Amino acid sequence: MRRAKITIIGAGNVGATAAHWALSRNLGDIVLLDVMEGIPQGKALDLLQSGPVDGFSRRVIGSNDYRDSVDSDVVIITAGLARKPGMSRDDLLAKNVEIVKSCAEQAASFSPNAVLIVVTNPIDAMVYTAYKVSGFPRQRVIGMAGVLDSARYRTFLAEALGVAPRDVNAMVMGIHGDNMLPLVRLANVAGVPVSDLLDAETIAGIVKRTQHGGAEIVNHLKTGSAFYTPGLAAVEMAEAIITDSKRVMPCAAWLEGEFGISGCFLGVPVVLGTGGVERIVEFPLQDEERAALAESETIVRGQMAATGI
Ligand code: 2OP
Repeated sequence: MRRAKITIIGAGNVGATAAHWALSRNLGDIVLLDVMEGIPQGKALDLLQSGPVDGFSRRVIGSNDYRDSVDSDVVIITAGLARKPGMSRDDLLAKNVEIVKSCAEQAASFSPNAVLIVVTNPIDAMVYTAYKVSGFPRQRVIGMAGVLDSARYRTFLAEALGVAPRDVNAMVMGIHGDNMLPLVRLANVAGVPVSDLLDAETIAGIVKRTQHGGAEIVNHLKTGSAFYTPGLAAVEMAEAIITDSKRVMPCAAWLEGEFGISGCFLGVPVVLGTGGVERIVEFPLQDEERAALAESETIVRGQMAATGI
């Protein structure tokens, strides 16, 4: 069987960390691509040399040339500026739209059958940009955010409950921004609703902390934003696609009537397999959840318009 080929565009913190996680999982051969000469080459060589110790047997190269990315199965777009303290994800929009446009155009031309995973912020607007520019079907252009935001939500719930994080099932839907929707009704520990285990005030605090999870890290780092879990979240999605696992994850997907919304990217649970988004898992929302998702939709539509595409 042909080895999977994964191109990661952007050799900054998120891109290099994604390469690290992907190699450590022996997921496929990696091309780390960046416009900066030397950075992807140096980081790729450093990563390659961890193989004998970590045990992976996949290749990783660094490059400034899209020709090296030809026929990738998955392309992860991380290129763009990251947030600094005081900056919202929207402040990045104008700068990053041009970068993502160029990345998506070239990725699509060199890897016409790839699935694109977009990580650059503001994710919902950038995945829209990649969708429009690539001309790919909606199944093959996906935004990373729900896996990251849900991981933060699950971490905070696990800490409050004193349980293993992996036993907390919880999902965040909607925009990757302050209006995201951490679903309380469906959050559970090994099937037991968290609302039976934690008081309402504690849960409300966790919801709020999740919504501002990215900013909390930016405020600590001061010079950039989170990268370990964003990189891992993209790799978790790539793995589900490459292994055709049909895992269900919240991802930013282009909606065509699902949840009553059309023509907009929003974080929703999807089934991931070889074709990318193989299905959107639609389920009835309660009134307040529907209202929260509508708020996300309004903001994402504003961002989409701001891209000028
Ligand atoms: C975050 O939430 C970088 O937006 C990303 O940390």
